Amino acid sequence: MQFDPMNPDFQQNPYPYYDELRAKAPVIWSESMQGFCVAGFDDIITVLTEAETYSSSKFWPILLGEYDPAPEVQPMISLDPPDHLRTRTLAQKAFLPRELKKLEEKIGQISDDLVEHAISVSKDNTFDMAWDFAALFPVSVIAEMLGIDRSLRLDFKHWVDNLLAASNRAVYDDARLAEIKHASDSLRAYFSEIVDARTANPGDDMISSFIKAEVNGERLSKLEVINLAILLLIGGTETTTNLLGGLFAGYFDHPEAFEAARADRSLVPKLLEEQLRWQPPVQSLFRHTTREVILGGVTIPAGTMVMPLLGSANRDPEKFPDPNVFDITRDTRGSCTFGQGPHFCMGSFLSKFEAAVAVNKLFDRFKKLEPLQNSEEVRWIDSYFARGPATLPVKFELA
Ligand code: HEM
Repeated sequence: MQFDPMNPDFQQNPYPYYDELRAKAPVIWSESMQGFCVAGFDDIITVLTEAETYSSSKFWPILLGEYDPAPEVQPMISLDPPDHLRTRTLAQKAFLPRELKKLEEKIGQISDDLVEHAISVSKDNTFDMAWDFAALFPVSVIAEMLGIDRSLRLDFKHWVDNLLAASNRAVYDDARLAEIKHASDSLRAYFSEIVDARTANPGDDMISSFIKAEVNGERLSKLEVINLAILLLIGGTETTTNLLGGLFAGYFDHPEAFEAARADRSLVPKLLEEQLRWQPPVQSLFRHTTREVILGGVTIPAGTMVMPLLGSANRDPEKFPDPNVFDITRDTRGSCTFGQGPHFCMGSFLSKFEAAVAVNKLFDRFKKLEPLQNSEEVRWIDSYFARGPATLPVKFELA
């Protein structure tokens, strides 16, 4: 059996491929990735939790390659314990639920503004959920938190999308690669300027707090602050965009779940939890073995890339019975959507919190909101790493 995550058919619908992998070859060498892909839930938990054996140190270099905006230092997602803890301890203070709840009003306002924006650009009561709402919402929230100009959100969105496209760099032509390079240079230049400005004149935003913060009497260097800001921008943007886009793309697969949540808003968090299990916005991660290991009966040499397929873990029937059924009453605990172990997503609460605000606002403003296509006709973004609709026209009726 062969497995090629670069295959466009896989990228349009990975789930039948995952089912086959789990049944026939749950740990498989992929020639195109030059690494082993891991499909079973238990093996994926092993890879994610045993950080000494499965190192994150090449995560960023593999994802971004020569397009890393600040390659001189590695962001926390690409650090192993114990170094990883230093940056994580510092950054996660800003992500405590009680800090984030203070932002509820602002997030609600951003959401209201964008709903009105989507209505204003609509034609025949149709707008593009992916671009006119979902793409702009999380980037506006994270821009607010970082204290960066919200009017630049479209630039940020394009820069982040283009930078993340670097994961597919092996198959792109020179023109596309030039766009990715431009995005990388622009992000570095922008944040370099902002860090200088905030060092001279601190505010009450997150970047100023990173500049001032001390861990064990040490401060973060300018490049570490730039790096952290870019990581948060990347981590906080496309993922939540794809959560919201993917949610509405699946409307016709389970309309009853949407209508139940619309009628009883206490079910919105359950709708989102099941969506996160069913269609994880991040489909795979990267680790490297620090020694020879045997995983799922397969011997993997030291220094080899290992890719846990998160989208497959969440459809493993050993963990989630009837995994291909979307069921908002199921227990989704243990899903791999936000990873597991030391790198468990720092923004998991934020993304669920902001997505719930957005879904409630959309339900309030529209009594009907349905995509024009069913999920099989939707064009999904070209990526084995990120999953969301490339575009999603939706028809609405105002409440
Ligand atoms: C639905 C939305 C999101 C998904 C699916 C997601 C997914 C993930 C996953 C799978 C990881 C683990 C990476 C690994 O183990 O190597 C991760 C880490 C991370 N995420 Fe998220 N994320 C989301 C939203 C966010 C948001 C909103 C932010 C911040 C604004 C964020 C910031 C981070 C950071 C900083 C890390 C690295 C943590 C570490 O290395 O210790 N994420 N995310």
